[in-house]
Amino acid sequence: MNAEQEIRRRIADRGSITFAEFMDVALYWPAGGYYRGTGGPVGGPQGDFYTSPLVHPAFGALLSVQLFQMWLIMDRPSPFTVLEMGAGNGLLCRDVAEFSTKLPEGFPKALRYICLDVNSQPGLEKGSAATGEQLEVLRVAAGGYLGGDGNPPAGLPLARFRGCVLSNELLDAFPVHQVTMRGGKLLEVHVTVEQGELAMVPDELSTPALADRLDGLGVVLGEGQTAEICLGLEDWTGAISDILEAGFVLTVDYGREAEDLYSAKDRPRGTLTTFYRHTQTDAPLRRIGSQDITAQVDFTSVMNEGRKFGLAPMGYLTQREFLLNLGLQDWQRGLTGLGLTQRQTDANRAGMVDLVRPGGLGDFKALVQGKGVGHHDLWGFQPGASVQGLKRLMDSLPAPLMTPDHLDLNQGRDPGSEFQIEGDWPPFAVPGGEEEVSL
Ligand SMILES: C[S@@+](CC[C@H](N)C(=O)[O-])C[C@H]1O[C@@H](n2cnc3c(N)ncnc32)[C@H](O)[C@@H]1O
Repeated sequence: MNAEQEIRRRIADRGSITFAEFMDVALYWPAGGYYRGTGGPVGGPQGDFYTSPLVHPAFGALLSVQLFQMWLIMDRPSPFTVLEMGAGNGLLCRDVAEFSTKLPEGFPKALRYICLDVNSQPGLEKGSAATGEQLEVLRVAAGGYLGGDGNPPAGLPLARFRGCVLSNELLDAFPVHQVTMRGGKLLEVHVTVEQGELAMVPDELSTPALADRLDGLGVVLGEGQTAEICLGLEDWTGAISDILEAGFVLTVDYGREAEDLYSAKDRPRGTLTTFYRHTQTDAPLRRIGSQDITAQVDFTSVMNEGRKFGLAPMGYLTQREFLLNLGLQDWQRGLTGLGLTQRQTDANRAGMVDLVRPGGLGDFKALVQGKGVGHHDLWGFQPGASVQGLKRLMDSLPAPLMTPDHLDLNQGRDPGSEFQIEGDWPPFAVPGGEEEVSL
C-alpha cells in the first residue's frame, strides 16, 4: 500500500486525520513516503530542494571548526561522538569528516561520526577518504518521527555518548499540526475526502497540547490566521537529551522565534509549503510521496523544550553571522591564492556567497544548546576578529574546495531555482530586516 492509499485507508476508517498525521505518512510511510528513498533524489540538482552542504564544502568545514572548539571545551574526550540526525545523502558528514583530518591536537583520532536517517541507504559518507581507522563513520536507520496521533516515537538506536548532536534542515521536515482561528475559536486542520478528493477542513483540536503550546508562547492567533505547530519537538528533544551524556546540540534550519513566526501581520497563512523539482508548489495534498512538505521551525519552542530537558541555549544567530564569525570571508578572499582557474575560483566563490546570502541560506538560523558543559563563548557566536585561537587556526587552514558532488551554481545545473549571486559580499544582515526565506 503506498502513502496515498494508506492516507485514504485511515480516512475511510476514521472520517478524517490531522494534517500532522497526513504529513507523517506522506513523508515517512515506509512504502513510498517522500523520504523513504524510492522516488529518486530528494535534495540536489535533480531533486526538489538544495541545502547548504550541497552548495559548498565550506559549510561542513566551518561546522567541523566549531565542533573542534566544542571538543577542546570538553577536555578532548575520545571518542567525541557527532550524531548527525537527518543525514540525508551523507555529504555533510563527508565534508565535516574530511576537513576534520586537517584539525590539530588529535581531533581526527577522537572523532566518531554517526549518520542517522530514516533512510538507511549508505550515501556519500562512504566515499570519504577520511574514513578508515582514524575516523569512524556509521550510518544508522531511525524509525522516523511518527506524528503525535497514537504512534509512539521511535527512540534512538544508540548508546549514550559525549559529543554533539548535529542537524541541518531536520526539524523543518518534522510533521506539523495546522491550527486556524475561526469565529474566535482555535480549530485544527484535518484531512478528509470530499467527492473523492482529499480536502483540508477545520475541525476540533485533536489534542489540548496545541492550545497549550500557543498559550505557553503567549501567542494569540488573529481571526482567520493559520499557523503550524510541531509537537514532535518534545519527543525529539527528550530523545537527544537522553542520549547525550554531556555535550552540545547544534541545529541549523530555517525558522524564527515564535513572536515573529506567529505574527498575524507577516505570516497570516502560516509557513507550510511544498517543493517539487525546485518549484514552490504550496499544494500539500498533491503529489503525495513525490514532493517535499515543510514548515519553518519555531526556534522559541526548540529552546523552551531544550530547557525542559536540560539543554541550555548557548548561542543563536543567523547562518550568515555564524559562518562569517567562523571565518568564511577569509576563505573566500584566499581563493585567489590557491592556483585555481578563474572558473574554479568563480564557482567556489559563488557557493560560499550563497551560503550567507540574505533572503536565502544566510537567513537560516544556527542554534547551539549545551548539556553539562557550563556556559562558553563559542567561536560561531563571536565576531571572528576578536577570537585569537580561532584566527590562528583559520590562518593555517586553506578553504576546502568544491567537488563534483557539490552544486556548481555558475554552471546553471539548477535552472529551476532562482540564484542571485552577488558580485561581492553583501553587508551584514540587519536583525529584523530579513526577507521571507526563499529556498
Ligand atoms: C530536508 S532533509 C535534509 C537532509 C540533509 N541534512 C541536508 O542538509 O541535505 C531532512 C532529512 O531528515 C531525515 N529525517 C526526518 N526525520 C528524521 C528522524 N526522526 N530521524 C532521522 N532522520 C530524519 C529525512 O529522511 C531527510 O533525509
